[in-house]
Amino acid sequence: MAVTINVDALHAGAKINKNLYGNFSEHLGRCIYGGVFVGKDSPIPNVNGMRTDVVEALKKIHLPVLRWPGGCFADEYHWRDGIGPQESRKRMVNTNWGNVVEDNSFGTHEFLELCSQIGCEPYINMNVGSGSVREMAEWVEYLNSPGESTVVMERIANGRREPWNVRLIGVGNENWGCGGSMKAEYYADVYRRYQTFCRNYPGSRLFRIACGPSDADWHWTETLMQKAGDQLDALSLHMYTITDSWSQKGSATEFDGDKYARTIAAASRMEQLLKGHLAIMDRYDPAQRVKLIVDEWGTWFDVEPGTNPAFLYQQNTMRDAMVAALTLNIFNHHADRLAMCNIAQLVNVLQSVLLTEGDKLVRTPTYHVFDLYQDHMEASLLESAVFCDTMENGVKQVSASASVKDGVVTVTAANLHATESAEVLLRLDGMNVKRVSGRILAGEVHAHNTFDQPDQVVPQALQAELTAEGVRVTLPPCSVAAIRAEA
Ligand code: AHR
Repeated sequence: MAVTINVDALHAGAKINKNLYGNFSEHLGRCIYGGVFVGKDSPIPNVNGMRTDVVEALKKIHLPVLRWPGGCFADEYHWRDGIGPQESRKRMVNTNWGNVVEDNSFGTHEFLELCSQIGCEPYINMNVGSGSVREMAEWVEYLNSPGESTVVMERIANGRREPWNVRLIGVGNENWGCGGSMKAEYYADVYRRYQTFCRNYPGSRLFRIACGPSDADWHWTETLMQKAGDQLDALSLHMYTITDSWSQKGSATEFDGDKYARTIAAASRMEQLLKGHLAIMDRYDPAQRVKLIVDEWGTWFDVEPGTNPAFLYQQNTMRDAMVAALTLNIFNHHADRLAMCNIAQLVNVLQSVLLTEGDKLVRTPTYHVFDLYQDHMEASLLESAVFCDTMENGVKQVSASASVKDGVVTVTAANLHATESAEVLLRLDGMNVKRVSGRILAGEVHAHNTFDQPDQVVPQALQAELTAEGVRVTLPPCSVAAIRAEA
């Protein structure tokens, strides 16, 4: 099919916050334990307990921000259980995720060590559901105060003299569900109360994030904006791509063409959700001070056969890569209003960028999409329009977004069709393109990487032709390309 993508290369728009390319790590299954943290004494190569292979892979895609400790786990997490000598930390049962024993060996210091090794910003989601105001206030004090209080002395005794100056603070998670089963009206008041005691210490100004809606819960957004909009910096939306229903999510690797099409259609709903929630927010905040974040998104399929159903371990195919490519293009288009997005989750849980097994590591197709999209981070959005047919599932066959940074234009374009190629003419209006290059990730919809064959699906060099009308590229079925144009 012939496709034209027009990019207005003359008018740079909103800056794409690099944090739109963030990730999320919860005490869930093998995300933290085994996924990122193996302990100092592990035979798996590590630095202070953090897996070297995982840290290096995340550095390569310049992971900008990481959310922790949950998720549902956040509203049962008591930060004091995770500080001090590791061997004497409190053991608890992780009731959300399989009733496994959580020994709290990965706590505040370890998370911030992980972020420092990766070079990413920490985003800490605090406990509202089962925690007290004092507990939250003291966690912020422990993290950020340079003063000489008993809490700070405790931090120093635990090996950290300087405050970390953590900026991103979540005040509860899914408080309409696992975070306390609250009504929107009630949570709005609870939020106001808790956030009051999250103090700005010298050297840090908190960015306070309130629990936002699930999917199309417009009432939640309306209520939070009306009753607490003046007290928050951002509202967090959660949206998972479910192909059929929560009770029948289907296999991550075995699906037919119809299921593939329905997954793509489900993911494309992100656009209408963002528009809907932003329109409500605009009514209460016409100056658009309050940002929207999407701190949980991605595909959710059945767990891999034979694995613990509570651990949410799923494989990751080119179908997931298409969901990532489409979603990240949608996020770019809303760069003026989105402050952060965090795919769920980092390693071994849901739509992971990395999978581990013992000392082995797999980079998933989703990882490679984040790799291809890197140049959008902190670049300025360019207006773009795609002219192509709509597929039977109601989604345009090609999804694209464009940005410019240091004079280089990056266009990411995904051919979402499972079986048909797209012959793309890319027109960069207002730019005299002299050089064009790029990389492409392509594969049959089921293609994926395994521990035995970790490089089945990896980006390749893109063949791009510079012609008088523009840049011509062929996008095979189920592929995503990052095209780089220079004047
Ligand atoms: O990401 C898995 C879970 O999904 C999170 O813990 C929760 O916030 C959401 O329901």
